[in-house]
Order: sequence, then structure tokens, then C-alpha cells
Amino acid sequence: MKKAIALLMGLTMAASLTACGGSQSTTATAAPAAQTEKAAEGDTEAAKAEEQTEAAKTEEKKSGNDKLVVGFAQIGQESGWRDAETNDVQWYAARNTDTIELTFADAQQKQENQIKAIRNFIEMGVDVIVFPPVVETGWEAVLTECQEADIPVILVDRGIDASAGDDLYTTMIASDHVWAGEQAAIVMNDLLEGNGKVVELEGTVGASAAVQRKKGFDEYIAANCPDIEIVDSQTGDFTRAMGKEVMESFLKTYSDIDAVFCHNDDMALGAIEAIKEAGKKPGQDIKIIGVDGVKGAFEAILAGEMNCTVECTPILAEQIFDTAAKLKNGETVDKWIMSADGVYTEDKVTQEVVDGRQY
Ligand code: AHR
Repeated sequence: MKKAIALLMGLTMAASLTACGGSQSTTATAAPAAQTEKAAEGDTEAAKAEEQTEAAKTEEKKSGNDKLVVGFAQIGQESGWRDAETNDVQWYAARNTDTIELTFADAQQKQENQIKAIRNFIEMGVDVIVFPPVVETGWEAVLTECQEADIPVILVDRGIDASAGDDLYTTMIASDHVWAGEQAAIVMNDLLEGNGKVVELEGTVGASAAVQRKKGFDEYIAANCPDIEIVDSQTGDFTRAMGKEVMESFLKTYSDIDAVFCHNDDMALGAIEAIKEAGKKPGQDIKIIGVDGVKGAFEAILAGEMNCTVECTPILAEQIFDTAAKLKNGETVDKWIMSADGVYTEDKVTQEVVDGRQY
């Protein structure tokens, strides 16, 4: 039922976004430039008038709607985790249509599509823009446009490159990915009793979730586990299919892999398939740690085919819309609203825990 509502919302919202794509602003007759004055003065006047007109346009677009109008530019559907985040956001908005108006766009894994969607939201004059940046870099121009339009931006589940400056967005609601990598390394050290060969399945190249999980994991191992060697590390793009494919190639190249650290559970589930097809026992011959805490990973842990998942909650909707409402009201919020996540090793996963899993 929840999925059906979400699907319906998604279709309606996609249609509304398409309709808005070519929309023009409604106000805005530019004040006539002082044509008879000196050229330089005329240019200055015209520039001022244009600025005022732009400000008036923004004000007009933003007024007249008591509801909280939010534009959400989703990355795509690369993982079960991503679907859970989308469903949560759409479900929450669908239950609160008296106060929330959500416009949702699916960027199909492309940064250019996310940027296009954000520009549409600016044109529509939404109250707040929300998006998980597919990669860390390349956001300066569009985020500057959001600032110029005076629209607060909430980053969710991933961040942007710090060198771009954190004044480009208003706040970030996300897990601590460095912490997740470190927790995975601590568990890995326990599982291998301090000795073994590890391969790493990385997430999308350039995504903060991948960069930071790798940093946390690799640095902890390098500093604390002299007899654990990371023999190879390649991207599986956060997808189950690529996780399987890359694990197959690792298994062909290295005959002595003791463990795999996967930057998400979908890739871990793909790796489990590859390990089984290679005639080995996942979770036993080759230890497996993932990140996310999706139900499929919990089932695999219960079945003894996976050893640990480090949680990264996608259930963010309530926080997103509460924060957006505060920003619309002009309140200030923390720069990083960090999710509280857990580490689930085999001893913590029972049937009851699996049944109670929300995503
Ligand atoms: O940014 C969060 C990551 O993105 C999740 O770990 C992963 O499953 C998703 O694709």
C-alpha cells in the first residue's frame, strides 16, 4: 500500500515537473532603461532595474502558497536503500498534503539531470530544495543560483567537496560515512583476528559516501592492523549487479581472499552471489561486511552468509520536512544534522530484528 501510494505520487510529481520544465515566470516587466542618458549610467541603471525585477520575480514566485513547497532531486534508483529513501519521502509528503507540496525528480544517476531539476525548482520558486549530490564536485554554479534566488538547500545522505565552501548549502542531513568505514574496519579486524587479505568494493566514484567510507576503513586498517592487507579496491557503483561482477573478477584474480568490505549492502548481496557461484561459502570462507542495514543484508546475516552491516538510515523524511519548515520560517539549523546509526554483527541479528526492519 505504502509502495502504491509512493508510485502514484511519483507519477503525479514527475508529470508536474515535466509540465513546469518550460514554464516562464509570471511577473516581470523590466523597468525601462534610461535610454537618453549617458551609456555607462544607462548600463548601471538597467543592471539595477534588472536586479530589482529579478528580486520581485523571486518574491512573487515564493509568496501565495501557505504550504511548504519542496523540490527533491533524487539521484536515481541504484540501490534498495535509495528506493527506501524515495519511498519514505514520497509517503511522508502524501500523508501531509494539507501542509506539504512535494515536487520530485529522478535524475537517473546523472549529475546533469540533478542540476537541471534544481534549476527547474528555482524557476518554480519552491521554498526549499533538497538533494543528495550524486558526486562531491561540480555544484558551485547551481548552488550559487539557489543562493541568488534566496532558496535554502538541504543536502541529504551525501555531501559536497569541502573545498567548494560549506556556505553553498544551508544544512546537511546525513550519516557519518567516515565513522561507518572505521566501524567496518574494527569489525573486520575482529573477524580476521588481525590477519588476512581483504578486497574492497567501492561505491560510485566521486560520491562522498564512497570517498569517506573508504577513508575511514583504509586509514583504520593502515594505522591499527599491520597484518591485514587490502589487496584490491574497485568500484561497484553501489549496485548489486556491479558488486557481483567486480567480485567475480576479484575471485578470478586472487585465490586467497579472506574478506570483502562493501561500501553498501546491495554490492554485498551481489558479492554473496559471486562467492557462491565460485564454490565458496559467503560469510565463512570469505567474510563479508556491508553498509546500509537493508533488510536483505539482515536476512543474509541471519542465514550465516554475511557477517556485519553498518547502518546508514534512509528514513529521513520527517527530519527533512521539519528542517525545511524551519528554514521557510527563517530559523537557523545545525550545519550537519547527523543520523544515529548502529553496527549489526551476527550476535545482534535475530529473526525478530529482521522482521522489525523498516527497509
Ligand atoms: O549515499 C548513501 C548511499 O547511497 C547508500 O549507502 C547507498 O546504498 C546509496 O546508493
